[in-house]
Amino acid sequence: MPQSAVQQRRPTALGGSSIAQGTQIPLILPDIKPLAQERISVGYTEMDRVLGGGLVAGSLILIGGEPGIGKSTLLLQVAGNIATSSGPVLYVSGEESIEQVKMRAERLDISGERLYLLASIELDTIAEAVIRLKPALVVVDSIQTVLSGHLTSAPGSISQVRECTLQLMQLAKNTQTPIFIIGHVTKEGTVAGPKALEHIADAVLYLEGERYHTYRLLRGVKNRFGATHEVGVFEMHGDGLGEVSNPSAIFLTDRAVGATGSAVVVSMEGTRPLLVEVQALVTPSNFGNARCTTNGIEYSRLLMLLAVLTKRVGLAVGSHDVYANVVGGFSLEEPAIDLGVAAAIASSYREKHIPPDLALIGEVGLSGELRAVNRLGLRIREAAKLGFKRCIIPKAGGGTHVATELKDSGLPADFDIFTSSSLAVAIEVALH
Ligand code: TYD
Ligand code: MG
Repeated sequence: MPQSAVQQRRPTALGGSSIAQGTQIPLILPDIKPLAQERISVGYTEMDRVLGGGLVAGSLILIGGEPGIGKSTLLLQVAGNIATSSGPVLYVSGEESIEQVKMRAERLDISGERLYLLASIELDTIAEAVIRLKPALVVVDSIQTVLSGHLTSAPGSISQVRECTLQLMQLAKNTQTPIFIIGHVTKEGTVAGPKALEHIADAVLYLEGERYHTYRLLRGVKNRFGATHEVGVFEMHGDGLGEVSNPSAIFLTDRAVGATGSAVVVSMEGTRPLLVEVQALVTPSNFGNARCTTNGIEYSRLLMLLAVLTKRVGLAVGSHDVYANVVGGFSLEEPAIDLGVAAAIASSYREKHIPPDLALIGEVGLSGELRAVNRLGLRIREAAKLGFKRCIIPKAGGGTHVATELKDSGLPADFDIFTSSSLAVAIEVALH
């Protein structure tokens, strides 16, 4: 049979490897119909926000994460929600048998009246099911198990994974169905993992967390329909993932009040400020060889802060082992946490505690200066909302101005804002 005849027998919603669809002639801008921007809620505010306000029809969304982190759990719950709220959902499982998925659904208390399970790895079968069912949502678990008839290579190989993603993209666009694809990443970063697909998908979300911590972060790294870098927080229970709508309050509940080496930072995760505790432990090193270990803070950033503390603040931390940790299994990347990390180290080194109602905000520069951070007002308000009574912020970038402005616009009268342009001074105040 000639190749073209084979092509014609394929379900029409699937195409070649090209993402381009619609007309083949150039159109003048005003003649192009705008995309329907109606959003479908996935049933979790935390996830809707990361998606930019909910699901968009015809979008292809990649959910990446390490094996066992909870991707299947999250998407089965989303599938259950959409089946209840919007219409039929097709859950394609290439990893687990449909009986296993059913068992999981029961555990998650999903009744699943309109939830269809398909244990197929053939792309053509999936496309046929989509055309027949006209689902409100499709979940493909996982992209590493799907197989396109176009190619002879094994499932999970880079060419299969890429080809299948492109075809699923076309299926999503042609049928106006939102499709989630799950992709595994390993700590080493597999070759055929989600990284290779990020450029194809409309939105890319990663589910992160420490396997032995209960918190899971859903982090948006790309979104053609909304802002990126939004973070949704979930918690894994015995009966699935539950959303955590006020994460700061929860992360701060287990703090050991009065302990040294503990500071609270305010980090912007997308549009939301998060208050998180950072901890440091500084001990004289036994073997002359000072060690530095970090969990949740960038290693090179920590080394830089240690150098600044040594040279600009006069703390002889060089002969000490330093351990730094972000509570809750979080990873913080924003430089605005610098001041808090540095203060936690100084607190442990000097054995003096930082008041538990003090929040620390500021980037540290190599000269020991405190540098401006964005969204200062938003961060301070969040701290005040959570019951903090004072904060230290950089003077640079209009810090003093923001402080007076906030005072005039409803910040509690007893909330104290200290502005400083020097790390050394800020640390003195924090440890006072
Ligand atoms: P899973 O969704 O299978 O991970 P992934 O699809 O990312 O590989 O999640 C597996 C882990 O989650 C497993 O170790 C058990 C745990 N889990 C719970 O703690 N509670 C639950 O309700 C479920 C379904 C799973
Ligand atoms: Mg899974």
